[in-house]
Amino acid sequence: MSAETEKNRHIILTGDRPTGHLHLGHYAGSLRQRVELQNQYKQFVIIADAQALTDNAENPDKVRKNILEVALDYLAVGIDPKITTIFIQSLVPELAELTMYYLNLVTVSRLQRNPTVKDEIKQRDFGTSIPAGFLVYPISQAADITAFKADLVPVGGDQLPMIEQTNEIVRGFNRIYECSVLVEAKALLSNFPRLPGTDGKGKMSKSLGNVISLSDSADEVRHKIKTMYTDSKHLRVEDPGIVEGNPVFAYLDAFDSDKEGLENMKEHYRHGGLGDVAVKRRLQEVLSVELDPIRIRREGFANDPEEVMRILKNGTAVARDVAVKTLDEVRKAMHIDYFTSE
Ligand code: TRP
Repeated sequence: MSAETEKNRHIILTGDRPTGHLHLGHYAGSLRQRVELQNQYKQFVIIADAQALTDNAENPDKVRKNILEVALDYLAVGIDPKITTIFIQSLVPELAELTMYYLNLVTVSRLQRNPTVKDEIKQRDFGTSIPAGFLVYPISQAADITAFKADLVPVGGDQLPMIEQTNEIVRGFNRIYECSVLVEAKALLSNFPRLPGTDGKGKMSKSLGNVISLSDSADEVRHKIKTMYTDSKHLRVEDPGIVEGNPVFAYLDAFDSDKEGLENMKEHYRHGGLGDVAVKRRLQEVLSVELDPIRIRREGFANDPEEVMRILKNGTAVARDVAVKTLDEVRKAMHIDYFTSE
């Protein structure tokens, strides 16, 4: 197979809501993977501003500001706009049109059963005032995926219900309109379990204040590591400590390339005689190798926001061409291509 065919063998689409800076959890779970995947396959990365607005309708400026921040995070980790198409969701209006047609293929009760949306509704305290757009965002996500005929979607486990719903729409559409225009997608789950927050309580989440962001300064990272939760019963150096559920070790698992050294450290920690300070010093080293180059690249791009916006504009134009083609096929399959003469 030629390099070009090989690269087109799979189409990848993934992305993020621009509601905040991306953090170490995003990096371990998905950003690193994207940097590798872009060399193997055709990759689209969506900055899902319209989806972010489904629960931020009153905060469009927050979404707007974070489009740039998320783009900076992407470029900083090495997502290369020459080989990955990075684009802004709302500037591809074909996605909204596809959403409109897909809405008719999904029942309200099916939407109410989506477990991720259910959790999010609980977390957000909507009560009975759930924005309609929020409830249907999985359908708009199906539009994001199918517009590019993506067959692989690298996501975290919480996004599996979205892929399932997407595939139901794909099958329903192809069946009802007797065509094979839409393509089913497979989730590509990352090998890394979700990183816990620095407080060891749950996942990293900006609202809990337990994240290490890719945009944090070296001093901030140092301070966050120093005050990180470890094993609360590991009080004296000679005490035996617990590695499982200890966030310092979870981060080392994700980033320390010296696996043998890490296993030795774990053994030592379990037996006692290895203090938290020493383990954190190692984490400090490991994270500085990982994050220093990212920070430097990020600062470089941050000094030229116009260039970053140009990159997004170009990516969006490329993405739009693809979405327009799919939408044409969709309208044709639905027999609503009223003015095209054949
Ligand atoms: N829902 C995803 C998240 O919250 C973001 C997203 C929007 C997405 N559209 C997508 C992810 C399409 C994968 C594919 O992170």
